[in-house]
Amino acid sequence: MTPGARVAAAIGVIDAIQGGMPAERALTNWARGARYAGSGDRAAVRDHVFDVLRRRRSSAALGGGDDGRALLIGALRGQGIDPDAFFTGEGHAPPPLSEAERAAERAPEEGEARDLPDWLWPRFQAALGDGAGRAAERLRHRAPVTLRVNARRMTRDAAQAALAAEGILCQPVDDITMALHVTEGERKIANSPLYLSGAVELQDASSQAAMEALDLPEGARVLDYCAGGGGKTLALAARIEGEWFAHDASVRRMSDLPARAGRAGARVRLCETQELCAFGPFDAVLCDVPCSGSGTWRRGPQAKWALTPEVLADLGRVQADILAQAAALVAPGGRLIYCTCSVFIEENEHVVERFSSDYSGWTPVFSRRWPISATGDGFFLAQLCREMNDSNQP
Ligand SMILES: C[S@@+](CC[C@H](N)C(=O)[O-])C[C@H]1O[C@@H](n2cnc3c(N)ncnc32)[C@H](O)[C@@H]1O
Repeated sequence: MTPGARVAAAIGVIDAIQGGMPAERALTNWARGARYAGSGDRAAVRDHVFDVLRRRRSSAALGGGDDGRALLIGALRGQGIDPDAFFTGEGHAPPPLSEAERAAERAPEEGEARDLPDWLWPRFQAALGDGAGRAAERLRHRAPVTLRVNARRMTRDAAQAALAAEGILCQPVDDITMALHVTEGERKIANSPLYLSGAVELQDASSQAAMEALDLPEGARVLDYCAGGGGKTLALAARIEGEWFAHDASVRRMSDLPARAGRAGARVRLCETQELCAFGPFDAVLCDVPCSGSGTWRRGPQAKWALTPEVLADLGRVQADILAQAAALVAPGGRLIYCTCSVFIEENEHVVERFSSDYSGWTPVFSRRWPISATGDGFFLAQLCREMNDSNQP
């Protein structure tokens, strides 16, 4: 496909998304009908679509409208690219810009330039203070790609060299022992022999840093209560000798975990909800709870526009319920670990504070935030310790 044809395809996908379709489904639908598109074409169309979604408000101002065509024109202008280079009308490229489209361009106003819904801005400020603007700006750019080297398999230096031989160039991330920031060749990762062997995993740097901040005792029995694909458990299991248990309200979400754990050389036992009491109590229970994902909106930018105050309030209730259920499975003297990839106080400090005031017998150990940065997503982690003589429920 020509560069112009890729832009034309992206316009169609964005129109479907603006009509209410989830971005991934809209991209899949397009790809099914575009058998002529190679992997490079699919990646380029995806990049255009996600560039628009990250900057939807500013693109609407710069493009003078909010249909796919106007948004693409605006997104290109916002990146300093002249739309005339793509809107040529030649071959499968979109038609050239009309005079009205040229006149419709206007500079984004303050809220538009942040590319956040207005109701979220005070929440960003409350949570991040002076860092709020920087965080919003980071969310307007593509996400970094970060790998975690499996310490049981090889050193980070050896992994960096082996990846370079596969055409995947990386830089070590400061202060995170096994993290490699991919600077070139990220599209080769999916077929990389090193990746397929489990020697490296895709994992955001802040998630890695948060798991590194946990000093669980050797031999600990650890339950990952919201395990999903099990990324957090695998990060811990690569570093600590322990007994690993994984649970998720949706068993289907853990379907890849046994194979992934096998490749990583870890043993993880999957547990159904009704089995948890029999397997417990645990020395540590990790709750990587469902959240708004606001720290990761570079990766899933549609969520930034879909979140509502009602959904945020619902999430707070779900998070509090999960924490209370998980706490009941922690042994006396054991740890309760709560984490999210959200920046909002309502999903982080407030949930932990409410838990601490509702239930006695828990001592806060530490709580920490990782900012949205050049190498990592926004992340929050808090750890509480159950008192030795605590017999209260949970
Ligand atoms: C943020 S994701 C977990 C990601 C995972 N820990 C990882 O590192 O890949 C949250 C998970 O919580 C699960 N979940 C939602 N409600 C739950 C509940 N009430 N109890 C346990 N898990 C729940 C979801 O199915 C989802 O897989």
